[in-house]
Amino acid sequence: MRMTVIGTGYLGATHAACMAELGHEVLGVDVDEAKVEALKNGKVPFYEPGLPEVLERNIEAGRLSFTTSYAEAAAFGNVHFIGVGTPQQRGSYAADTRYVEAVIDDLVPQLEGDHLILGKSTVPVGTAGALQERADKLAKPGTTVEIAWNPEFLREGYAVKDTIEPDRIVIGHRAGDSRAEETAREVYATPLSNGTPFIVTDLQTAELVKVSANAFLATKISFINAVSEVCENVGADVTQLADAIGYDDRIGRKFLGAGLGFGGGCLPKDIRAFMARAGEVGADQALTFLREVDAINMRRRQRVVDLSREELGSLIGKRITVLGAAFKPNSDDVRDSPALAVAGQLSLAGAAVRVYDPQGMVNARKIIPDLDYAASLEDALRGAELTILATEWDEFKQMDPVWAGGLVEKQLLIDGRNVLPVADWQQAGWRIWGLGRSTHEVCSTLPTSPVYATSYRQ
Ligand code: UDX
Repeated sequence: MRMTVIGTGYLGATHAACMAELGHEVLGVDVDEAKVEALKNGKVPFYEPGLPEVLERNIEAGRLSFTTSYAEAAAFGNVHFIGVGTPQQRGSYAADTRYVEAVIDDLVPQLEGDHLILGKSTVPVGTAGALQERADKLAKPGTTVEIAWNPEFLREGYAVKDTIEPDRIVIGHRAGDSRAEETAREVYATPLSNGTPFIVTDLQTAELVKVSANAFLATKISFINAVSEVCENVGADVTQLADAIGYDDRIGRKFLGAGLGFGGGCLPKDIRAFMARAGEVGADQALTFLREVDAINMRRRQRVVDLSREELGSLIGKRITVLGAAFKPNSDDVRDSPALAVAGQLSLAGAAVRVYDPQGMVNARKIIPDLDYAASLEDALRGAELTILATEWDEFKQMDPVWAGGLVEKQLLIDGRNVLPVADWQQAGWRIWGLGRSTHEVCSTLPTSPVYATSYRQ
């Protein structure tokens, strides 16, 4: 099949490359010339494991190309995916859908024949219907344009796998005449032949599936983080508690990783946009609990700053090393990153903050240029009076506590992700705090959580 993918950020670039990997002929479209130029040359403008290989392979095979021209996109094929961003609006909880609307405005007037536009971006419920009306007004006489919605569930860091082997495919289309299901069956023939669940529904349900999934994940994380606040006050261990409740199939251990909480380009803005839209459609009370989910999440960041102050006294002039800047490991994305938020707050409180992240440094520097960015983990640790593990990269999880102890000035560490083997670190002479694992010396008696090493996120 021939198809275009409009928007080449994390979502669009991955989708374009993976559709080509599935054997389709794909044209990626973006208004950003520098991004398109990089992609044409086989360079992914962000860090995503496995994606550069897929991109290069498919460019070389002649199945994948990129352009800034909507005219080219209109002539290329009859199926178009939208993968542009829907960030939070300034000064509001609502999502900003202007980029999605701009795609319709720029593409539709140039189309001829019968076209299907499949939205992948996360949008407030009702957006697809409004875009259909917009498209109907802009389409040339004799041209038909159908808008359907095909939400994307990929996780950064696992984007290639999640796109090629999704755990479900959802397609929402209008009532009556629609060719969306038939086309989606062709587009996703490979995953569907492997038994991937396929849910065909109306537009509103498809739009809501995505925000509901993210709201549930955010709620799960904030649930365990709320429990971790109680654990801290009574000397209980939230990681053992999560293991214990996670063995119940109905609960499950995934996304019960207590710590600094969630960030990134999706979960925080999606729960806010969901709340905003619920109010607009008259379900004001339905999602007010998401405010609490948001607040619990933000409190964890503050907790790490408070804990640092409790340990160091005044923060002014104290050398604090923050390990991590990306919002999660295997990503260079620093959007709403808990790690960077903590580093920024400590710096504002007067601490001399040094940050190290295996991939997120370039993006972090753009957001907070005046932090001290270390060249390596070793460089980051040297002379630290307090170390905070804020993003659970393997490089940090596998750090040798004896080696690290020889570099820092004070062997004091806050494990903001509860991923270090506490006993090993204590044996090496470290004083170590885990969020939700008590701030009194109880840590020293704790066995290592049996599943701490298996990632809770996958
Ligand atoms: C999320 C959804 O998982 C994905 O389906 C959707 O398409 C986009 O949004 P992503 O933003 O890539 O994906 O990150 P995810 O892996 O969900 O992690 C989100 C945040 O939650 C990270 O900051 C992570 O550190 C945090 N997290 C995750 C926890 O704090 N605890 C956990 O147990 C799991």
